Amino acid sequence: MKEERAAAAETKLIADGIVSVTFDTNLTEEAVPGQFVMINTHSEAHLLGRPISICDIDKKNKKLRIVFREVGFGTRELGSSVTGEKFDILGPLGNGFPLEEAENADNIVVIGGGIGAPPLLALVKALPKEKVTAVLGYRSEANGLFLKEEFENECSNVIIATDDGSAGTKGTVIDAMKNAGIKADLIYSCGPMPMLSAVKATAGKMGAKAYISLEERMACGVGACLGCVVKTKNVDEHSQVKNKRICTEGPVFDAEEVDI
Ligand SMILES: Cc1cc2nc3c(=O)[nH]c(=O)nc-3n(C[C@H](O)[C@H](O)[C@H](O)COP(=O)(O)OP(=O)(O)OC[C@H]3O[C@@H](n4cnc5c(N)ncnc54)[C@H](O)[C@@H]3O)c2cc1C
Ligand code: FES
Repeated sequence: MKEERAAAAETKLIADGIVSVTFDTNLTEEAVPGQFVMINTHSEAHLLGRPISICDIDKKNKKLRIVFREVGFGTRELGSSVTGEKFDILGPLGNGFPLEEAENADNIVVIGGGIGAPPLLALVKALPKEKVTAVLGYRSEANGLFLKEEFENECSNVIIATDDGSAGTKGTVIDAMKNAGIKADLIYSCGPMPMLSAVKATAGKMGAKAYISLEERMACGVGACLGCVVKTKNVDEHSQVKNKRICTEGPVFDAEEVDI
């Protein structure tokens, strides 16, 4: 983990309210898919960093990409960044997706709900293309099917679900999986909590192993404030209760381990 003042190299609006920012940074040296960074705002009134998942890691050119939805002050500031503008970035933080699990899997399914899709792009780039199906859920085609083409370049199959049925299956990512008859023996997923609960239940029914990334609210991002705990099955060594800190023991968890 390092703290660095990194310059924005490219900022692009890629869908309605969804922005991609690429930074020039040495944090790429250690980064793995599934980790996140804390990015500070320029405002002294907003002291906490904003956690954002790593969407792409270009180690050769030292470029780290994030893709996020503009929701408040911090993400709007980042979304209007200009080339060369510098941000204090702490990272890479948390654990990554366990890539070794993919070695013995034949059918790997990555499931991204809305703004949960970006961290899965770095992941699929590290997985064998022929084994991977991506299932991506969006609000509607009109809002933009962001990253869809990039997933198509990296996966053998891409299935789409939209809330309004304007593209792919009308409904959830689970509906789209059922519609397409997709079976998995290994699932990696990121998205809103109700979707992750459904992914956990679906994996259980299929007998698949599932790893989920939890993007809940955070304060310190480094394990100190206990502001990001999730209930787990087993007693945590640090807190001696059935809790784990999403920022340090996560954000990626074995779905069986967490109580969601
Ligand atoms: C580990 C992790 C990874 C994340 N990765 C991404 C990512 O790749 N892309 C992305 O778009 N977002 C991601 N998020 C969510 C992102 O951190 C928040 O959207 C961001 O911090 C909001 O900051 P803000 O200053 O723009 O909004 P604020 O002014 O702080 O809040 C504005 C609104 O956003 C809501 N909000 C704030 N934090 C979160 C949160 N963590 N989750 C959901 N809603 C929130 C608030 O409740 C409020 O309604 C991630 C969160 C975590 C914990
Ligand atoms: S955000 Fe402080 S412990 Fe996780």
